[in-house]
Amino acid sequence: MIHQNSLGLALVGAGYWGPNLIRNFNSLEDCSVHWVCDKKPGRLQFIRERFPEIPLTDDFEVVLSDPRVDAVVLATPVSTHRNLALRAIEAGKHVFVEKPLADTTVHAQEIADAGRAARRVVAVGHIFVYNPAIVRMRELAQAGTLGKLCYAESSRVNLGPPASEVNVIWDLAVHDIAILLDVWNQKPVAVTAFGNRYLHPQLLDAAFLHLHFADGSMSQHHVSWLSPDKVRRFFVAGSEGSLHFDDMRAQDKLRHIDQGQDTRIGLSDNESKELFYKPGEIKNVPLPAEEPLRAECAHFLECIRTGKTPRAGAEEGVAVVQILEAACASVENNSARIALSG
Ligand SMILES: NC(=O)c1ccc[n+]([C@@H]2O[C@H](COP(=O)([O-])OP(=O)(O)OC[C@H]3O[C@@H](n4cnc5c(N)ncnc54)[C@H](O)[C@@H]3O)[C@@H](O)[C@H]2O)c1
Repeated sequence: MIHQNSLGLALVGAGYWGPNLIRNFNSLEDCSVHWVCDKKPGRLQFIRERFPEIPLTDDFEVVLSDPRVDAVVLATPVSTHRNLALRAIEAGKHVFVEKPLADTTVHAQEIADAGRAARRVVAVGHIFVYNPAIVRMRELAQAGTLGKLCYAESSRVNLGPPASEVNVIWDLAVHDIAILLDVWNQKPVAVTAFGNRYLHPQLLDAAFLHLHFADGSMSQHHVSWLSPDKVRRFFVAGSEGSLHFDDMRAQDKLRHIDQGQDTRIGLSDNESKELFYKPGEIKNVPLPAEEPLRAECAHFLECIRTGKTPRAGAEEGVAVVQILEAACASVENNSARIALSG
């Protein structure tokens, strides 16, 4: 849709994920999608059939030279993110880059530095930080509802994609690391990871990541392409309760469990009270019905308009890539503990 006085966008990459971004941005009131760009004619034809009003091109330079384009949204393979994002920033555009921000920490940092120097918004597609369950999880954790955060554990497993240029850590753990950093509000000091290539000839297809924090808290993240069951769980335990997020549930996706009661703890020799253990009460945490992808797209536009720093911006993008890279280095070094620089 073309709107008066709205931000001009171009979406680059119309493969598996790009059309979701196109649909969302195209439905938002305060932006106009001026271009969809993809190198493959088949993907452009797919978009033409669904969004006949959007102009199409296979030439990224056409997008960059159009002065109506304020921002470029990249949904291209990870290996292209660095070059395309740097070109876009150089051309004066704001950029939204699908997750992960880049294929190496050095490349991610280059994008972050270029965005800062050019005063352009750089947002990264860490979609889960816009998921109402994770927004609420973060709010409850930060408000102290769970007491001191102790550990987190997640499981994100399914059958693998038919073709991938990245391994299961870069494909799946990227989401859980983004969630963890958002909820924990501190960065880990070290990473240990275990993984293997079972069915895939070259790429790790199952892995366990362990993150270690300076305050003694820790997290474990299981990712796999070998599971016929699709699992999407994220659990956070604190000294005074825990939160369970299960994205595969049709409802009650986020549940809070209080610490329960155990009268045996701290019992003195002279106390005559009844000894019992009562497990924590499980309560559903009500959530607003918001589509995370729509919230993510709207937030990017808001940041461009207001100069606000994105909730998932360059800094978060670099931090996640650094952890993914360290996890892969750990796997390749017999699961050595890899220290992370601040
Ligand atoms: N947020 C999510 O949940 C989610 C889900 C899936 C994928 N992704 C991310 O989206 C990105 C794309 O993944 P995908 O699975 O859609 O990949 P894909 O391979 O299906 O699609 C990528 C498209 O980009 C096009 N392309 C590549 N280089 C180009 C260039 N220089 N100019 C124009 N077009 C170009 C390709 O022709 C292809 O159609 C990746 O970063 C991936 O991690 C995010």
